[in-house]
Amino acid sequence: MKAVIFDLDGVLVSTDEYHFQAWKQLANEENIYFDRKINERLRGVSRMDSLEIILERSRISYRAEEKKTLASRKNGYYISNIENLTPNDMLPGALVSINRLKEAGKLIAIGSSSKNTLLILEKLGIKEYFDAIVDGNQIKNSKPDPEVFLLGAEKMNVKPEECLVVEDAASGVEAGKSAGMKVLGVGSAKNHPLADYRANSLAGIDILKFV
Ligand code: BG6
Ligand code: MG
Repeated sequence: MKAVIFDLDGVLVSTDEYHFQAWKQLANEENIYFDRKINERLRGVSRMDSLEIILERSRISYRAEEKKTLASRKNGYYISNIENLTPNDMLPGALVSINRLKEAGKLIAIGSSSKNTLLILEKLGIKEYFDAIVDGNQIKNSKPDPEVFLLGAEKMNVKPEECLVVEDAASGVEAGKSAGMKVLGVGSAKNHPLADYRANSLAGIDILKFV
């Protein structure tokens, strides 16, 4: 395999928890029931699609304009949650895996639904490592649609079957498989039936074994 496409939130950095906290704050303010089980469905899913999932539990229905306001309120909370993000917030094994792949001459990319991807990569100081970055600003359809990963492969000039996707989201595992790529499921996706390989996290594994 020639390339690895990493999801960002929950794979390389612990921002998945900050997303949860920000949605929780919004849901509390709007008196909408929201818990960690529902939160699992938001992994990999775009901001507006995530809001729709949260609003399934709302007693009132919101107009399109109000939904936009809710989503930007959540993003405001999220941005302030990640304000103090530093390279120390990278998940265990993430940097080691990136370095290992670079040393072996593999191409690496980010394939994330987040529109905050560049901000996060800059805070972590790892933006320059990547041969391609595809984020929520560049795609029309969020995971489980394969668009984000197919665009990543295209930008690196490699075929889908030459790519390994690393994902913590069920939607992301499905997206990787629909793209025709191999998938390593980690974290919340470590038991996903569609994943080709599984690990608790990037810590303590040699990623080259899957490439
Ligand atoms: C994904 C996260 O990476 O990005 C989702 O897993 C999130 O939880 C999505 O909703 C969109 O993020 P943002 O930063 O554009 O609101
Ligand atoms: Mg993720």
